[in-house]
Amino acid sequence: MGIIKARKLAHDYFKLDDEGRVESVSRAVDHVDLDVQEGEFVAILGHNGSGKSTLAKHINAILLPSEGTLLVDGNDTKDESKLWDIRQSAGMVFQNPDNQIIGTIVDEDVGFGPENMGVPTEEIWQRVEKSLKAVGMWEYRSHSPNKLSGGQKQRVAIAGVVAMRPKCIILDEPTAMLDPNGRKEVIRTVHGLNKSEHVTVLLITHYMEEVIDADKVIVMDQGKIVMQGTPREVFSRVEELKSYRLDVPQATLVAHELQKAGIDLPDGILSNEELVAALEEYRKGQRNGN
Ligand SMILES: Nc1ncnc2c1ncn2[C@@H]1O[C@H](COP(=O)(O)OP(=O)(O)O)[C@@H](O)[C@H]1O
Ligand SMILES: [Mg+2]
Repeated sequence: MGIIKARKLAHDYFKLDDEGRVESVSRAVDHVDLDVQEGEFVAILGHNGSGKSTLAKHINAILLPSEGTLLVDGNDTKDESKLWDIRQSAGMVFQNPDNQIIGTIVDEDVGFGPENMGVPTEEIWQRVEKSLKAVGMWEYRSHSPNKLSGGQKQRVAIAGVVAMRPKCIILDEPTAMLDPNGRKEVIRTVHGLNKSEHVTVLLITHYMEEVIDADKVIVMDQGKIVMQGTPREVFSRVEELKSYRLDVPQATLVAHELQKAGIDLPDGILSNEELVAALEEYRKGQRNGN
């Protein structure tokens, strides 16, 4: 079943002058149609200002459509009586883990969400344990969050969202403030949740390497969805990606340059391993005189 369904969704930001009159209007999300199925791992890519965060805020009903509709687990975000259900279905993880962690001890922090939801105490602790184990932070349950690394903090923030049992998690550039190790930890964790807990994931990022294992990649530019497909489909369109000011994974770029130089390699190579294997194949072919 579709968990997120947007139809011609648009968002306008209004700039007001000193007297409160509308000075200018800028369209940040422009007639977006989006379908995310339950259990899917969808990555959203796009240059700064392409409308990714604005779209994410709609899914959590932080912003409401200027035009069009958005259904989250069947609930229209414009229906105020459904706000609670929508926020329960779709949990958000933001860029800066420091702004998301409020507890002074890891397990307390993770328990805040379910506590606010009125979950019975005993169940809160069951959820805290399960969530911390799911993100690999159970050993740190009695630690102070401010002593953790960025990647660890972000995993605690993710556990806090998971403890509220959302069907879908939207992560808005969750690795932007992390070092490469922290980034890997977080992406691995999110994939783990998607596989083992069947949580639907919407990962917003501008790191190409992080979207390689997604089920679907969506590229946004100037508020519109401009490309959509499997990572392999999207990354085989190197020139188009470059036109949207996106970097392509290193291996994809090298393969693309080699292709341009006349070396016969398949389209959409995503990793170093795939590139090496394709070059081996190519060499075998050369030896056999093909
Ligand atoms: N609160 C705001 N008020 C006015 N304009 C905004 C606001 N937030 C974002 N914008 C504008 O909307 C566009 C999309 O921004 P955003 O959704 O943050 O993009 P992204 O997350 O892809 O960087 C940009 O042009 C940005 O300047
Ligand atoms: Mg953003």
